[in-house]
Amino acid sequence: MNKLTIRDIDVAGKRVLVRVDFNVPLDEKTGTITDDSRIRAAIPTISYLIDQDARIILCSHLGRPDGKVVESLRLGVVAGHLSRLLGKRVEAAGDCVGPGVEKAVKNLMNGGVLLLENLRFHSAEEENEPGFAKALANLADIYVDDAFGTAHRNHASIVGVTEYLPSVAGLLMEKELEYLGGILESPEHPFGGLVGGAKVTDKVEMLENIMSKVDFILVGGGMAATFLKAKDYEVGLSLIEEERLDTAAGLMGKAEKEGVRLVLPVDVVVADEINAGAKSETVSVENIGPGRRIVDIGERTIEMFSEELRSARTVFWNGPMGINEIPQFATGTRTMAELLSGLDAVTIIGGGSTADVVTNMGLADKMTFISTGGGASLRFLGGKKLPGVEALLDKDQAITVEK
Ligand code: 3PG
Ligand code: MG
Repeated sequence: MNKLTIRDIDVAGKRVLVRVDFNVPLDEKTGTITDDSRIRAAIPTISYLIDQDARIILCSHLGRPDGKVVESLRLGVVAGHLSRLLGKRVEAAGDCVGPGVEKAVKNLMNGGVLLLENLRFHSAEEENEPGFAKALANLADIYVDDAFGTAHRNHASIVGVTEYLPSVAGLLMEKELEYLGGILESPEHPFGGLVGGAKVTDKVEMLENIMSKVDFILVGGGMAATFLKAKDYEVGLSLIEEERLDTAAGLMGKAEKEGVRLVLPVDVVVADEINAGAKSETVSVENIGPGRRIVDIGERTIEMFSEELRSARTVFWNGPMGINEIPQFATGTRTMAELLSGLDAVTIIGGGSTADVVTNMGLADKMTFISTGGGASLRFLGGKKLPGVEALLDKDQAITVEK
C-alpha cells in the first residue's frame, strides 16, 4: 500500500480525528448491536493511538437517517460497547460539530477517546459540503481514515475533510488494502471466486476485473438464475435481471476466451414459496419448471463446487448460495462456509451478508481475512479507485502538522 499510515506520523498530544465505520447491525426491537465485528476491527488503530498519547476523536455514520436526527440511530450504544471492549471510558458527544463538541474536544486528555454523534444526522455529510468538512477538520490536527467500509463514498468525513488536515490511513484500512490488493496483484494459483447473492448487477464490475486473474468462478445464489436463463434454461419464478442477460452471456463468453472455468449449478433446490416450511425439492437445472423458484444450490452442485475449492490456493467469496435467512435453504451457504474454513488456502471473505454468515457460524477465525466492506470491497476488486483511499497522503509525500 502506498499511503502513509498512523505509524508514519507523530501523534503524541495531537488531536486526531478518526473516521471509523461503526455502521453496525442493530436489533430492531431492543436496539442492541447484533454483530460488533466492525467495532472490534477498529480497535488496533484506537489502541495504538491511546498508547501513543493522542487525543482521539472518533466519527462514524450509522444507518441512513438522511440528514435528520433519528433517535434509534444515535451512537451512544456504540460508545458504551466500545468502552467495554477498550476497558476505558469513551465519551459520546451530543453532535458532531458545534460549540458543545468543541468543548468536549478541549477537555480531552492525552489518551482520551470521544465519539461524535452520527455524521449522517447532517445532510451536509453525504453532500460533502465544504463548510461541514471544515468544521469537522477544525476539531483536530490530524485526520485518520480507518473506515474501509465507507471508502467508496464521496462524503465530507471521508473526502472533504482531507482538504484541511494531513490525512493518513488507519491500521484496518491498511490491512484491508493489503489483503484485497494482494489477491488482485499476486494471488497464489489456483485462484477462484465463489459468488452468489441476489443480483448480477452488484458483481459485474468485480467479475469482469478478476476474470483475467482467476482460474475458476463458481456462481450460486439468486444471481445464478440470470446466468441459467441466459443459457436458455427455464428458471420458473426465480427473480432474474432481464437487463443483465446480455451481461451474463458476455461474462460466460469472456470466461471461455480467458480459459476460466465458469461453473453454474447443475442442480438446485426449488420451492413454491419463500418461507420456512415451504414445500421444496432438489431438481436438475433442466427440470425447474414454470411455477417454482430457486432457493439454494443442490447436492451435486455442492459437490462440484467443493471439488474446485479443495484444489484452490486462493479463494474470494462474496454472496450466499441461497436464501440463507431461512435455515431450510441455507445448506449450500453453510456447506461452503465450512469447506472454506478448512481449506489450506488463502480465504478472503467479502463483507456484508457473507461476513455475517461466517461470523455467526463461529468460523471467522478460520478464514484468512474477512473484509469489513461490502460495497467498498466489490468496488475495490472491480479495479476502481476508492475516493476515501485516493484522498490520503502517499508514502512519498511530506507531512506537516500545524499546532
Ligand atoms: C456499509 O455498510 O455499506 C457502509 O457502512 C456504507 O454505508 P452506506 O451503504 O449506507 O453508504
Ligand atoms: Mg452499503
